[in-house]
Amino acid sequence: MESFIATAQRSSEIADAAAQHPEKYRVLTGERPTGPLHLGHYFGTIHERVRLQRTGVEMFLVLADYQVITDRDTTARVRENVHGAVLDYLAAGIDPDRATIFAHSAVPELHQLMLPFLSLVTEAELHRNPTVKSEFESSGRALSALLLTYPVHQAADILFCKGNLVPVGKDNLPHVEMARVIARRFNERYGDVFPVPDALVTASPEVPGLDGRKMSKSYGNAIALSMTPDETVAAIRGTRTDSERRITFDPQLRPGVSALLSTAALCLDVSPLDLADRIGDGGSNALKNVVASAVNDYLEPMRARREQLAKDPELVRSVLRHGNEKARAVAEVTLVEVREAMGTVY
Ligand code: TRP
Repeated sequence: MESFIATAQRSSEIADAAAQHPEKYRVLTGERPTGPLHLGHYFGTIHERVRLQRTGVEMFLVLADYQVITDRDTTARVRENVHGAVLDYLAAGIDPDRATIFAHSAVPELHQLMLPFLSLVTEAELHRNPTVKSEFESSGRALSALLLTYPVHQAADILFCKGNLVPVGKDNLPHVEMARVIARRFNERYGDVFPVPDALVTASPEVPGLDGRKMSKSYGNAIALSMTPDETVAAIRGTRTDSERRITFDPQLRPGVSALLSTAALCLDVSPLDLADRIGDGGSNALKNVVASAVNDYLEPMRARREQLAKDPELVRSVLRHGNEKARAVAEVTLVEVREAMGTVY
């Protein structure tokens, strides 16, 4: 696989190309609805999607409910998480008239692509995927066949709509690479059906979680977009810092303090070093006050929109109904093409 730097470089060229010729691109990306979306999602990818939407590219957003059970055995709260994610998207500026928002499980034809796709990769290739490896290790359980093969499933997510531009975080790059391999091998074997998709890695830095590790729902170190201002203050107040009065940015030695600085710096659009200087000898207390107001001020307009949208309980359902129908129609057409290419039309 090419290096991350090369991918990032190519990403910025592709982003420019998409802005100039939006009609040539179809964006497909999405989420695993394992919990509420948080600031890491926002700065990592949602922000970028809203920007892409403005250029006029067509966009599909998958709420990948089948990916929830890759490494856990419950679907409790999936519905709540899917609905919450739709509200977050809309509040962040995704326009459901322009973007197709759908759930995996509502599009049966998408999953049928997985069968021919599985025939195009080897078990050894699946075992080599570094993201699957680390997800398997942190799951602390036996490797399920779905966890091992979900990158192939994700290729179906991307290719069912002939997505050719896939905005993702770094950890999803191996999956986009797998989709590229599958598209090429399918086309070689059966004739040209699929585009070879490009990953688009976002330029914005990864948002650290409140403890300095990656921001993740499962680490409990995340600021959810849907939190109230008071919950946000409590989450920030509850983080571990240290007793040094002088605030400095040092992610190695002071992960807690530095994570807070990074978070506020993103919201304020300043550098964490400058922010540390500004807080100076104020200690953790001053730091936490600055961070809590930076985050709450930043999220305030989005949260106000979210609250407004949530008043109409039919809204989310109708966005999903519409998105599911649209995705299904597209998947049906692709499946017909696949069957024609494979000669399995009877
Ligand atoms: N695996 C992605 C994540 O971890 C979610 C996802 C599912 C996805 N299908 C996708 C991302 C297709 C990009 C394209 O969040």
